[in-house]
Amino acid sequence: MADPSHGPASFWTQANALLRKNVIYQRRNMKTNILLIAFPFILCLLLVLLQAFVNSQLDKPSNNCGCACVNKTGNGQCEQVCGLEYSDLDQAGTCSIPNPPEWPPLLQIPAPEYRAVRTDFIPFTDLPNESCRSSGSCPATFLFTGNNQSLGEILAGNMITSSFTLNASDIVDSIATNVSGSASEPETNNFLDPAFVSSEPIYNVQSQCSSNSTFSVSLQQSFIELQEVVSCVQGLHLWRNSSSEINDELYKGYRKGNLERKINEIIAAYDFLNSNGNSFNVNIWYNSTYKDDAGQTSIALVRVPRSVNLASNAYLQFSRGPGTKMIFEFLKEMPKPQTKVRLDLSSLLGTLFFTWVILGLFPVILTSLVYEKQQKLRIMMKMHGLGDGPYWMISYAYFLLLSLIYMLSFVIFGSVIGLKFFTMNDYSLQFVFYFIFINLQISLAFLVAAMFSNIKTASVIGYICVFGTGLLGGFLFQFFIQDTSFPRGWIIVMELYPGFSLYRGLYEFSEASFTGNYLGTHGMRWGDLSNSMNGMKEVLIIMVVEWLVVLLVAYYIDQVVSSGSGKSPLFFLQNFRKKRPSIRRPSLQRQGSKVFVQMDKPDVSQEREKVEQLLLEPNSSHAIIVDNLKKVYPGKDGNPAKFAVRGLSLALPRGECFGMLGPNGAGKTTFISMMIGLTKPTSGTAYVDGLDILTHMEGIYTSMGVCPQHDLLWETLTGREHLLFYGRLKNLKGSALTQAVEESLRSVNLFNGGVADKQAGKYSGGMKRRLSVAISLIGDPKVVYMDEPSTGLDPASRNNLWNVVKRAKQDRAIILTTHSMEEAEVLCDRLGIFVDGSLQCIGNPKELKGRYGGSYVFTMTTSPDHEEDVEKMVRHLSPNANKIYLLSGTQKFELPKHDIRIADVFQAVENAKSKFTVFAWGLADTTLEDVFIKVARGAQAFNVWS
Ligand SMILES: *[C@@H]1O[C@H](CO)[C@@H](O)[C@H](O)[C@H]1NC(C)=O
Ligand SMILES: *[C@@H]1O[C@H](CO)[C@@H](O)[C@H](O)[C@H]1NC(C)=O
Ligand SMILES: *[C@@H]1O[C@H](CO)[C@@H](O)[C@H](O)[C@H]1NC(C)=O
Ligand SMILES: *[C@@H]1O[C@H](CO)[C@@H](O)[C@H](O)[C@H]1NC(C)=O
Repeated sequence: MADPSHGPASFWTQANALLRKNVIYQRRNMKTNILLIAFPFILCLLLVLLQAFVNSQLDKPSNNCGCACVNKTGNGQCEQVCGLEYSDLDQAGTCSIPNPPEWPPLLQIPAPEYRAVRTDFIPFTDLPNESCRSSGSCPATFLFTGNNQSLGEILAGNMITSSFTLNASDIVDSIATNVSGSASEPETNNFLDPAFVSSEPIYNVQSQCSSNSTFSVSLQQSFIELQEVVSCVQGLHLWRNSSSEINDELYKGYRKGNLERKINEIIAAYDFLNSNGNSFNVNIWYNSTYKDDAGQTSIALVRVPRSVNLASNAYLQFSRGPGTKMIFEFLKEMPKPQTKVRLDLSSLLGTLFFTWVILGLFPVILTSLVYEKQQKLRIMMKMHGLGDGPYWMISYAYFLLLSLIYMLSFVIFGSVIGLKFFTMNDYSLQFVFYFIFINLQISLAFLVAAMFSNIKTASVIGYICVFGTGLLGGFLFQFFIQDTSFPRGWIIVMELYPGFSLYRGLYEFSEASFTGNYLGTHGMRWGDLSNSMNGMKEVLIIMVVEWLVVLLVAYYIDQVVSSGSGKSPLFFLQNFRKKRPSIRRPSLQRQGSKVFVQMDKPDVSQEREKVEQLLLEPNSSHAIIVDNLKKVYPGKDGNPAKFAVRGLSLALPRGECFGMLGPNGAGKTTFISMMIGLTKPTSGTAYVDGLDILTHMEGIYTSMGVCPQHDLLWETLTGREHLLFYGRLKNLKGSALTQAVEESLRSVNLFNGGVADKQAGKYSGGMKRRLSVAISLIGDPKVVYMDEPSTGLDPASRNNLWNVVKRAKQDRAIILTTHSMEEAEVLCDRLGIFVDGSLQCIGNPKELKGRYGGSYVFTMTTSPDHEEDVEKMVRHLSPNANKIYLLSGTQKFELPKHDIRIADVFQAVENAKSKFTVFAWGLADTTLEDVFIKVARGAQAFNVWS
């Protein structure tokens, strides 16, 4: 074939081979790859479209300050004017307010159903009876205390008027001068106190309510006219002995202060301290926390000033007489310009979307790794000499490149469409962050891939992780970040999960861009990392450390777990162990195998002796030496241990094809798996080309070819590309490579009609089989294992294939398992029949037939009456004849070859024919099949009864 002087392929040659294969493979997968790269584009586009939609909704007139066409000049032309006067209540929020309206100050009055009543958890009996709650007529309570109770009573009495004095020409003033309040919830924007637009009445606190105490007024305020219901509420002022009593009462009355969740609310409470005729000191309790149903807290501070004014006014009246009044006329906010409602979706949804985009690569990498594992392509490549180093390097580099392109297009596209997220933050910082994360992600995929062997499970779990992480990040983790009371230590612990560290990083970017955008400054810069509030630094550190750790662990697990390496979990200590001189321990091993030695057939023990001889005096004429190889599967669930291979010894010279025959489950596959490094032998070993399969599998792979029972091919690569790849792995280069591939294609009949350039996925079963054989033979391997190479082939291709194998066995050893006796006879120089874990016989086909089938099979069919005559005739021919079959007149006898001459048989038959009717007769030489059946049956019987 090719230049036989070539050595094993170097690291870079292997890397090159894998790279070229991957490039072709990815080119075939162009559609998927383009879709993948398009994913971030699509998401960004979606974001932009959503933003446009939201903007268009927000820009609707109903969400913006109302405008109208005002006819100013009188000539039919009008001018567009916007302002509060043209807006309804929904629109008013965005209008410019150059002259804020004035509103009378109000008190926060508890809603009727919450007002303080007598209860069992509060010791005071001066509170009203609970029955008032059902009619909604409970009085609202003030509490007061101080050093001088009589003074306190006077002051508290002054606070509440006895009647409502309405000045119909100035309603606003009337509300301000009387003690008014509302139970409605205040809002942060108080350009319009919600009390005046809510359906709740304006309460007017009086010492006693008369029957006609509820009436309607209309309130005119610059442009709006409001109808208000003014309703009387009785004001109670109750003395308490100390401020701690008040505290206690307020605490228990609070909606959540007592276990029964009973509510007792008051308007306000006053502690007049040491006030007297000359000085006035007061502490005021007020309730500023008002929560609406959505949990949004709004500050009721706007309803506080009036309670202060009440106390001051009461003291003024005490010291200066009832005529004196200090009127708190109105409140108003400061003017404001027109505003626009804006919602930046990319900052709001960005973190979640971008987390998905970036994590989206994870399942892609994972499934691609698991695919090679599931299809056993990784091990196939390994068996043909691809080392772990080049595999890792090229795969890693490939995924890194893919991720880089993906992220690059993502960032570029995001920047082009103007997402602040990308444009505001420092690009070098973004690059470092993304670069570290994609590396971490690839390492993780390698690690996780070790746990999966099924591509479907892997991709489902992968996608669940992606979406789950995004959602958990957005709806849980983010709250923890925002909640400043949440311990930072725990956040760091959560960030150890890579999905959350990604989320955190993106969150920091989006916060930085959002505030930068809002304040008109810049986003995140390198300098910002030193800010203790910025989580980016910790995230970067966590990710770098994790990247390195995960990569190491992934490599370690790959070495230990992945089939084919056969390394022990402590493989890195091997270098120390190797230092000890390696002793071949024939004497030791022999002891263990004595049992088998005794039952060995002569030919098998002869082979064993040959092996021992070869081990003592190594010579290079034998390519394979199997030394007492054993495999025991430990018993499970009470089953006894299974002996798959019981001490096999075998020596194969170069140029020999050894055929392994045996019934299903005899242990042939286990034997081959041990030889190609898929499983470790329990004891014993084998030497391939002088290298021990226990320790030097990697070296053996470079001179080994395997044609597995199931074709391990890439669906999208052509036959030629397969051969080129494996040829390169075997260190074929340049014209030698092309020539070897051409020859190989031609020899397996895949050359004509452009078959070689069709994708392997489109091949028929037979074509795939021939390609597999060609792969196993390319690059001149010293040892080839073929597992049922011709199964499923039509006779023509089978003959073709046999010729290929025959030619190939010139200077290499081939171990071939087969169920076809014909194939074994045609191809193999020696045969071994393998039953129940051990060789039953070994020898070349002729020998075996001679030894086990040293007889002819004589068959004769007569009518049942003449059976005895036939038997008599046969006994006469050979006294040692052995009847092996009898059924209604048809009898079969084994006639030892050395007893008879064929001519005698013919003679006897002619005689018999003259005496009785012979329906049919025949004389046959034994076939290999007979031998096989006999040996297998004998061995099994022996094993059952022994
Ligand atoms: C308490 O206040 C009243 C009214 O001002 C005053 O007459 C009385 O002397 C004060 N009592 C004390 C102990 O200061
Ligand atoms: C009622 O209000 C008007 C306008 O502020 C004022 O002129 C008038 O004196 C007020 N009447 C009373 C009785 O206070
Ligand atoms: C408050 O003090 C007065 C006088 O010292 C006493 O009679 C009353 O029982 C006290 N009230 C409470 C609730 O302790
Ligand atoms: C203060 O307001 C909050 C929110 O409305 C309410 O839950 C709480 O009961 C009030 N506390 C008192 C003492 O009135």
